[in-house]
Amino acid sequence: MRVAFVGKGGSGKTTLSALFARYTASRGGPVVAVDADINQHLGMALGLGEGALPRPMGSHLTEIKEYLRGDNPRISSASAMVKTTPPGSGSRLLRLDERDDPIHTGFSVPTPEGPQLMVTGPFSEDDLGVACYHSKVGAVELYLNHLLDGAGEYVVVDMTAGADSFASGLFTRFDMTFLVAEPTRQGVSVYRQYRDYAADYGVPVAVVGNKIHGPGDVAFLRDQVGDDLLVCLEHSAAIRAMEQGRPFTLRDLEPANSRALGTILDHLDTQEKDWFRFGRQAVQFHLRNAEAWANRATGEDLAAQIDPGFVFGPTRVSLSR
Ligand SMILES: Nc1ncnc2c1ncn2[C@@H]1O[C@H](COP(=O)(O)OP(=O)(O)OP(=O)(O)O)[C@@H](O)[C@H]1O
Ligand SMILES: [Mg+2]
Repeated sequence: MRVAFVGKGGSGKTTLSALFARYTASRGGPVVAVDADINQHLGMALGLGEGALPRPMGSHLTEIKEYLRGDNPRISSASAMVKTTPPGSGSRLLRLDERDDPIHTGFSVPTPEGPQLMVTGPFSEDDLGVACYHSKVGAVELYLNHLLDGAGEYVVVDMTAGADSFASGLFTRFDMTFLVAEPTRQGVSVYRQYRDYAADYGVPVAVVGNKIHGPGDVAFLRDQVGDDLLVCLEHSAAIRAMEQGRPFTLRDLEPANSRALGTILDHLDTQEKDWFRFGRQAVQFHLRNAEAWANRATGEDLAAQIDPGFVFGPTRVSLSR
């Protein structure tokens, strides 16, 4: 199951991604946490020391593409592979149970409470946008497009909400998107934009209130987002202490906040994986990107990369065994 935490700057995306990844790892299943935000803080929030970060995927796009394309005859070279190029027959697919492939072994490191961390590496506003051929976030899109994840296996992405993920289709690559919102008018503004995009593409979204100070804050969010409000996390002294550099583990978190993490996990676990939508939208966004810029950038007709016989999801794996 893949999940993204998105929201306004400073709302708590990184904090919640890290807490949720730690919590989910404590419950068993493999967890990969991916830092795909402009400012890269997820490693720190997972308790990793500076200098212990994995190799950044965004700086090794060619190596990643070279591996993923495998011997797919429809992809002529790594340089003809763009962030939306979907897998096809011959492509290499990734699994979360084994994680012995060069992407997981080469680009992730373990963190103290269990999650594996992958990072895009820092990027700037200039790296965002549909026409960006070398988009670092594109590494995450390629990773998710080639991933065969099942129930009880998790990828948690700390992501910038906005133009790039909408244009490329990255926002459609998740089983659930949690929009982190502080109880302010600014805090819910990103929600409206996201909700409208999400509704157009059948993408499930729920709001997680954060830094809540009392019933008035909950009532405000309820009033603004209605039933989309899943759960709220309180303003946390334990999180503040962690930010001040004190040692932190999940056991230090307030019980109400731990329960909220449980609610988030339960909600994710009740989502049905929709591989059909996933595959259909992968093709849809690839064609759109091909036409908008990628055909020109690569000098090829990238519509030809689409393998009409390829079925997204685990069916294909069991068939090929
Ligand atoms: N529930 C909470 N209680 C107390 N402090 C919190 C809580 N959630 C987040 N914070 C604090 O709020 C600040 C912003 O959080 P965080 O860095 O997670 O936000 P972000 O959305 O990832 O920000 P950015 O957009 O800069 O990436 C941090 O100092 C963090 O410790
Ligand atoms: Mg952040």
